[in-house]
Amino acid sequence: MKMYSSSASSLRWTGFFLIFTTFCCLFTPVVMVKHENFKTCDQSGFCKRNRAYADTATQLSPGWTSPYNLDPNSITFKDGQLSGTILKSVGTAGETVRLPLTVTFLESGTARVTVDEEKRQKGDIVLRHDSKAKKERYNEASKWAIVGGLKVSTGAALSRETEAGSTRVHYGSSGQHEAVIQHSPFTIEFKRDGETQVKFNDRGFMNIEHWRPKIDKPVPENNEGEERAPEKVKEETDEDESTWWDESFGGNTDSKPRGPEAVALDISFPGYEHVYGIPEHASGMSLKETRGGDGNYNEPYRLYNADVFEYELDSPMTLYGAIPLMQAHRKGSTVGVFWLNAAETWIDVIKSKASTNPLSLGVKSAVDTQTHWISESGLLDVFVLLGPTPKDITQKYGELTGFTAMPQQFAIAYHQCRWNYVTDEDVMDVDRKFDKHKIPYDVIWLDIEYTDGKKYFSWDPLSFPNPKKMHNQLDKRDRKLVAIIDPHIKNTDKYPVVEELKSKSLAVKNKEGNDYEGWCWPGSSYWIDCFNPASIAWWKTLFKYDAFKGTGPNTFIWNDMNEPSVFNGPETTMPKDNLHYGNWEHRDVHNINGMTFHNATYEALLERKKGEIRRPFVLTRSFYAGSQRLGAMWTGDNLAEWSHLAASIPMILNQGISGFPFAGADVGGFFGNPSKELLTRWYQAGTFYPFFRGHAHIDTRRREPYVPGAPYTDIITQALRLRYQLLPAWYTAFHEASIAGSPIIRPNFYVHPDDEKGFAIDDQLYIGSTGLLAKPVVTEGADSVSVYLADDQPYYDYFDYTLYSGAGHHTVKAPLDKIPLLMQGGHIIPRRDRPRRSSGLMKWDPFTLIVVLDSAGNAEGTLYVDDGETFEYQQGAYIHRRFQFDKATKALTSINIGESGAKTAAWHKTMAKVRVEKVIIVGALDEWSGKTEVVVSEEGAKESARRKKVGFTYHPAQSGRAAWAVVRDPKVGIGKGWKVDFS
Ligand code: NOJ
Repeated sequence: MKMYSSSASSLRWTGFFLIFTTFCCLFTPVVMVKHENFKTCDQSGFCKRNRAYADTATQLSPGWTSPYNLDPNSITFKDGQLSGTILKSVGTAGETVRLPLTVTFLESGTARVTVDEEKRQKGDIVLRHDSKAKKERYNEASKWAIVGGLKVSTGAALSRETEAGSTRVHYGSSGQHEAVIQHSPFTIEFKRDGETQVKFNDRGFMNIEHWRPKIDKPVPENNEGEERAPEKVKEETDEDESTWWDESFGGNTDSKPRGPEAVALDISFPGYEHVYGIPEHASGMSLKETRGGDGNYNEPYRLYNADVFEYELDSPMTLYGAIPLMQAHRKGSTVGVFWLNAAETWIDVIKSKASTNPLSLGVKSAVDTQTHWISESGLLDVFVLLGPTPKDITQKYGELTGFTAMPQQFAIAYHQCRWNYVTDEDVMDVDRKFDKHKIPYDVIWLDIEYTDGKKYFSWDPLSFPNPKKMHNQLDKRDRKLVAIIDPHIKNTDKYPVVEELKSKSLAVKNKEGNDYEGWCWPGSSYWIDCFNPASIAWWKTLFKYDAFKGTGPNTFIWNDMNEPSVFNGPETTMPKDNLHYGNWEHRDVHNINGMTFHNATYEALLERKKGEIRRPFVLTRSFYAGSQRLGAMWTGDNLAEWSHLAASIPMILNQGISGFPFAGADVGGFFGNPSKELLTRWYQAGTFYPFFRGHAHIDTRRREPYVPGAPYTDIITQALRLRYQLLPAWYTAFHEASIAGSPIIRPNFYVHPDDEKGFAIDDQLYIGSTGLLAKPVVTEGADSVSVYLADDQPYYDYFDYTLYSGAGHHTVKAPLDKIPLLMQGGHIIPRRDRPRRSSGLMKWDPFTLIVVLDSAGNAEGTLYVDDGETFEYQQGAYIHRRFQFDKATKALTSINIGESGAKTAAWHKTMAKVRVEKVIIVGALDEWSGKTEVVVSEEGAKESARRKKVGFTYHPAQSGRAAWAVVRDPKVGIGKGWKVDFS
């Protein structure tokens, strides 16, 4: 049961409660995760078994032989796909288990390896306890996760060089990839340009737990001649069977009707010292070793989506979401593996001295990283991505699982949340106070207390009597409201939603096939099963404006608790033997569950009103590979502590390189009360979160930006304004994510893949391709930070143009009112400088371009602008420009990199009056000293205005600050082609 309950509904928001919460606030509780509520590997039967298996293989090595052999006679190759049967030897009598193998070579250069089990595939097994569960291994993960990129390679071919005992396939766009499949024991080496990058089953840890019947010993009669109850017996094997047939934890027993069925494989990355990814963990970006030793973890990284109360930092413990994508990186190469399995998964990481290869070109690290992947059930289904750059990995992974949905403009501005704004008057009051203090914000959020007794799709009649009025007030400044809707549906009388859920049979079922009942915020509840298409169809009806009364086009949705969180369930979630649509066990689909709910809500928002089609905004807590197509995520219930502020940066960076970059952390920290300094620093850091939202627990003191007072409120306001000023750059970065899967904030290794010193750096970030480099302050009392520069380009302070140059660490001053933010030479950054109350009010504002010259005197950058709301951009209704400053021609030009067509023309017309009002050149050329004019020309301008002169001011370099110059109001259209001539 949760420690934090929503004890007071707003109905009982009484004097007593206020006194109680004030009392709570006086003491910051000592918080710590309850380890006993979550399994360790040792307590998770299949993890323990597979680690033990790996230990045996390692101890016996080199005497150990993996019992998996690919039958050479079974191998066929057709249309880019190799098929065959792996035979697993079991027992001593030469008995084998048949495991169908396919290796599919994709046009993208990615290979996919799938191993199934013939007996289960054919349904030729007997389930225990009269279970209704499906007999097959779960084979629908791809249905949820994969949306493209599966085109099979036409060029893939069996190699002509044959070697006894192995099969080789050449693939990749120019055949530079090769898979070498060894038959006995079965292993695969994936090579790029002749060099091995990824190895499967190299250490012999592959293990597919095959189906077997449970054998009960015949029971001897007792003295009275009565038969005794059957007892469990061990099979004639030395394997640990104690958790094969059932397993208990924390008072819950999992009935495991299909017995042991784990899949496991070792995947090695020779010559790679760093591996990243597999979120979500509160851990650094470069993954640690997990089998003990100094500074290492003792536990594998775990992926089993869970509501971990007061999670701890620097830990491989599971959190709310799971993306089983890992990338290995070294100088000159990045490769990745995507383990498509939705069951509970553990991943061990170890690093060892590389076996030196005299033929290696010297770029490999002296370290090999070896990983061991263990999932409880399902198929073994792994994609191998051979890079060679980090960009290739995010792009190819995005082609498979989808790119980030292009968000509405408001969604990337600032969001104000707390648990809870207690009345509609309260919401309107907060809204007015933001205006009074001239603080920009776009969205205010309602947590669970707005509902009538936790019945979603209803409003508490006493505290939210007039939601329409509230929406209308927000709409005046083009602001939005986000309301929470969770997947648990209150089990109560006279609640049409639960009545329909039951009568239509759309709830998740227990192992007997009856509606599963558990506890969450409303008390007794049922859970909608969004694996069921009928559930999605029904869910859509609930969001129609006339069904969810009081909502309107400016209402959007927050999906929480969708791991799912079940207060009285094992590990705060559902029993694994629960049944979903199609009779798949919860065990098989657990990590996808949250995404299916998020998906249903996304779909519902698309259809709220006929003809009104706008981009949905749905925040989710739980996620899986593919969730990036549906909205944003946040890192859940963090603490108002400096350490949690620091942890947010690597966590969000890790989301970015793992394909789900629209990510943020609760600004200010969820539990506890931040000091004013911490709150201020958190806002300064939050301005660099792709998803930027302040949020707080119900027991905390109010902390909206206007609350802390001078000087904090002003400093926070500056941070928020910085976010709004840079919205054009952020939006352009989102656009890149939406077409290429690139992270929105990027770690050093991604931007500088050959800079070995920066591979483990995860406390500073680049915004998209803008060259903006931020190093948020995450320590108390700091007045400077050390920023790492990876190259010899000039870097300039964003605010005063102080120059930093030379690869290595630089001290950047950072008193409380200063955000450490640098601009790397070579970029052009688009901004909008007029402070407004919301992003919607900036729609027609002019742009400023910051041209930051590199050491050769050149710069370039891009800008993407669309209506920030509809899907018209998909038909070309957008502006996409490349700005270029070329030292040779001394000209700044704007070039179209978008498309043309009717929708494009119409959008350009709408934007015709939106101009560039200022160009600032940082690192301005000495020769411009004394210059007072530049010549501007614009395509399509009238003859008289074709070459017009505009004002120019030059500011020489002084006391460490670079020279800079300003072109005053060139009045060129943001969507037009134009040139500013500085010669
Ligand atoms: C848990 C969420 O993580 C938190 O953000 C929210 O405030 C509470 N649930 C209440 O809905």
